[in-house]
Amino acid sequence: MRHSVLALCALAGLVVAGCSHRPASHPTDEPFRSVYHHSPAAHWMNDPNGMFYDETNGVWHLYYQHNPFGTTWGPMHWGHATSTDLLCWQEHPIVLYPDSIGTIFSGSIVIDRYNTAGFGENAVVAIYTQSEVCGQHQSIAYSTDGGYTFTKYAGNPVLKGDIADFRDPKVTWDGDHWLMTLACQQEIRFYGSKDLKNWEYLSSFGKDLGAHGGVWECPELIQLKVKNEKLKTEVDKYVLLVSINPGGPFGGSATQYFVGDWDGKTFTCEPGKYADEKSVPWLDYGKDNYSTFTFHNSPDGRFVALGWMSNWQYANQLPTVAFRSQNTVARDLFLFVDDEGEYRLGSVPSKETLALKGAETGYLPDCAVIELELNGKQDALITLANDKGEKVVMTLDVHRQTFSMDRTASGDCSFSHEFAANTTAPLYVKRDTYHVTLFVDHCSIEAFDSEGAWSMTNLVFPSEPYHHLDVQGGKATIFEIKH
Ligand code: FRU
Repeated sequence: MRHSVLALCALAGLVVAGCSHRPASHPTDEPFRSVYHHSPAAHWMNDPNGMFYDETNGVWHLYYQHNPFGTTWGPMHWGHATSTDLLCWQEHPIVLYPDSIGTIFSGSIVIDRYNTAGFGENAVVAIYTQSEVCGQHQSIAYSTDGGYTFTKYAGNPVLKGDIADFRDPKVTWDGDHWLMTLACQQEIRFYGSKDLKNWEYLSSFGKDLGAHGGVWECPELIQLKVKNEKLKTEVDKYVLLVSINPGGPFGGSATQYFVGDWDGKTFTCEPGKYADEKSVPWLDYGKDNYSTFTFHNSPDGRFVALGWMSNWQYANQLPTVAFRSQNTVARDLFLFVDDEGEYRLGSVPSKETLALKGAETGYLPDCAVIELELNGKQDALITLANDKGEKVVMTLDVHRQTFSMDRTASGDCSFSHEFAANTTAPLYVKRDTYHVTLFVDHCSIEAFDSEGAWSMTNLVFPSEPYHHLDVQGGKATIFEIKH
């Protein structure tokens, strides 16, 4: 079995490599295969895992939760893809297979510059969850060929689970040691280590804070600088990303976040903040951006993130054939202060994503980047439609200070009664003119406030592409996709 899977991946890898993303003649070609989003060559994918940037050759590595035996969730492996521009992806053979400890769940990767683990200077070390009937444990594996093949550590697991739901380690370097952020049922635990092999419990966070409508998953602690205009200074804050499923604001999966401080042992937020799910902010205000992680070692000190563009409510039923799921476009995360004086996590399309923007065009192609300029004094209505009467209607409501996207008539919604939805984002910052950028691909629309105050990611499955764009209350400029 292992050989046939490898052969298939290798074959698919050849096809997906190169920049047209998918030659039209390929048998796995299908109408909903994305043109500029990463999707697996074949079979099932969920969370992005272990992402890192190799500055020695400019290669971005993306691993992902993968079932090579079918197009629904199953025994998890780590699939692997690389890119030099975050737009064109080349598939590689699977790097981690299940073993006697368990299947391979989500996790992260670090470059061990100082050989703390003893696997060699600059070894690429994966830290991941292994799941079995009796529990979940953290294991490690190392690569000395830059992330293409991995050897599992003989002493695995390095952190044995003591409760059910004990997973998704995100490891970062914290001054003079490694820090692991781990999801444990409905809270986050922090562990420290000098060598990636021995882990010491530091603290827990979140028991009574934020949303608790489901299990907490895929956490990450990020240190960001933010300009505080009132204090006229730049301050260091920490942001804890926590995916939750179910319990998202529009049903099913979503990623909440907490802004606070880290003292080397504990993460704390201002007293009274995030007291319940109504007061917790969300990384993205669509239904389809889950398990967001940033790339370890992103260049220029940036925090470049990818999310899984799906939702556990219907992920297994999406109407694709040879493969299932894709990732979001790359976004840079940053902190800003909103009109109420609150720290907020913003997302802007990364410069690599913006490089997609080709020539301006007078018609709406199947896939496009659309820049909207909306008058902040009146409501705006933006409609993407096709000749079948399928449409996505977006609304800027200046009174309520919201942007929403209604996909209830967007095309095929029949595969799940949870799919049809109208999602709404708070604008966070009042402007005279709102600039909104839309990224339209074969089965998705990602909307961004152009300065990053909010983002909204939604899947859509129209029976033919939307070739009509109507904007009331503003104007639009359409750009072809360049690749
Ligand atoms: C999140 C998640 C993780 C887990 C993985 C299993 O989508 O449930 O918590 O590690 O998927 O595939």
